[in-house]
Amino acid sequence: MTDSAKHLLVGIDLGTSQSAICTSEGTRCVVDSYVGWPVDAVARKILGKEVLFGAEAVDNRTMLEVHRPLERGLLKEGSDKDQQAIRELLGHLLELGGAAEVRRKGGKVRAVVGVPAEALRVNKQHVRHAMRGLVDGLIITSEPFAVAYGLDALLHSMVVDIGAGTTDFCVMKGRYPTEEDQRTLVNAGDWVDEQLHTLLGERHPGISVSIHTVREWKEKHSFIGEPPKKITVSIPIKGKPAEIDITAEIREACESLGPPVAEAMLDLIAGVESEYQERVRNNVILAGGTSRMPGLGRYLEQAMDEYGGGKVKVVKDPVYAGANGGLALAQDAPKADWEKLPG
Ligand SMILES: Nc1ncnc2c1ncn2[C@@H]1O[C@H](COP(=O)(O)OP(=O)(O)OP(=O)(O)O)[C@@H](O)[C@H]1O
Ligand SMILES: [Mg+2]
Repeated sequence: MTDSAKHLLVGIDLGTSQSAICTSEGTRCVVDSYVGWPVDAVARKILGKEVLFGAEAVDNRTMLEVHRPLERGLLKEGSDKDQQAIRELLGHLLELGGAAEVRRKGGKVRAVVGVPAEALRVNKQHVRHAMRGLVDGLIITSEPFAVAYGLDALLHSMVVDIGAGTTDFCVMKGRYPTEEDQRTLVNAGDWVDEQLHTLLGERHPGISVSIHTVREWKEKHSFIGEPPKKITVSIPIKGKPAEIDITAEIREACESLGPPVAEAMLDLIAGVESEYQERVRNNVILAGGTSRMPGLGRYLEQAMDEYGGGKVKVVKDPVYAGANGGLALAQDAPKADWEKLPG
């Protein structure tokens, strides 16, 4: 290693819908978690690339074999392509964050990778394998823990990370969380999209809309509680352009998330030693992209009313909260916590 070769620390949040990287050099990048390979020679010629990522992969999906490496909180491990997709995605993030460049110049890179809590239990070995040769030191952790670490909310708090594939809960007790401090539900953003898709199909026969469009509508108009205004969208029905009112469907799909999330939150709080429960109730932190749904925090506060009340705070920067927390962990981690990875 030359004198000018750098050491770089990075925090990576590997998510079902989006993955992000933050580095000790201040670089922050996010990419939709899609990896696509051209299906044939024609597609390869048009695209001029061997592999595409994120929005570019989705936009060109007719020419690609597209993989989303995570689903329902787990890494897909079925085929070689699934395994390759996760490695390509991680490699792409490290490239975007400048980490690959640092290593090419002889520097060292250490990464904390946050994954959904369930993936940490089931797929840790797979993540480790995918990172081989990409970094020099590795810590794999659960994403809600990374979020809590980044916010310095390590004691008597609860992180509720509502992403695309899963909602991950983690009660913080001032130490590394154990299995009993965590819970995972598959009721999250993708699940809301599926409900909305089904409801729209039932109530507007003849409508043909992709799950991608349904997700865009949800992200633009989501709410829980009283509708802020009438929500209409333009869509062809049996080929003819039409304007439809989707206020009720958006409300129903979004509100279906409230009860399961509230129930799991209350259940986890009930498991905390009774003298700390009030502090945890008053320190609930909502993270993940779905935390942007207006009214969700209020709904969860109301659910705590009959237990003595509580406060729910939504993180300011849901896109980078996990990656930022990972970077904070990387900066503090003692030598002994790092796994060395063979090249
Ligand atoms: N304004 C919004 N209202 C409702 N949902 C939203 C909004 N903005 C983003 N989302 C949803 O947030 C989800 C993505 O969140 P996030 O990036 O935290 O997920 P992820 O980390 O990729 O998933 P996971 O943690 O489950 O692996 C998607 O389902 C997306 O549709
Ligand atoms: Mg996530």
